[in-house]
Amino acid sequence: MKYIDQLLENNRRWSEQIRSQDPNFFPDLASQQSPRSLWIGCADSRVSANTIVGLAPGEIFVHRNVANLVVHTDMNCLSVIQFALEVLKIEHIIVCGHYGCGGVIAALDGRRHGLIDNWLRNIQDTANHCREELDAIADKTARIDRLCELNVSRQVLNVCETTLVLDAWNRGQNLTIHGWIYGLKDGLVRDQNISISGEEGLEQFRADFIFNTKRHSAADSA
Ligand code: CO
Repeated sequence: MKYIDQLLENNRRWSEQIRSQDPNFFPDLASQQSPRSLWIGCADSRVSANTIVGLAPGEIFVHRNVANLVVHTDMNCLSVIQFALEVLKIEHIIVCGHYGCGGVIAALDGRRHGLIDNWLRNIQDTANHCREELDAIADKTARIDRLCELNVSRQVLNVCETTLVLDAWNRGQNLTIHGWIYGLKDGLVRDQNISISGEEGLEQFRADFIFNTKRHSAADSA
């Protein structure tokens, strides 16, 4: 069977299986979605939001791009955040990076990759900001993994500093931003111990990140 035909066949089987267990599953889902969280993750095919956290269709709102970046001029990501906050009224935004991220590796390898270098520039800015800490890590893999974590911290900060999130907190919306990192080698999510629920928490987290006074590393919670 051709590859594409196989995918369509897989889909038919999946749909049949769910309908045989619950005939109302799709009609109910078609009338509304009610996710409680927004996942901002990497586009990497190994980091599939629903699968990793064991949620069914309709249970998590998802935005993915190369290296899970939140860039203040990216209308795509901002539109997703706006819809999630103002229409779906989600309570959690999870920024989930992953160790061994190809985007982070490419940002550090000093080579040209074309158009994407302009996107990866955001990661290089973070690497430059945290140069001292990164330079002190002798092992290359460990250094890349630490930058994967720092990238999560930076993107959590970017989410918190959008007008969308600040306005949501201002109108008293219950909203927490989390920073997680996923291990490709064991399928486990590590909490980077970042949970920001308002402007007070943001002030502290911003200071921690800018002055590099608190690590916010998954290693510290292990
Ligand atoms: Co990645």
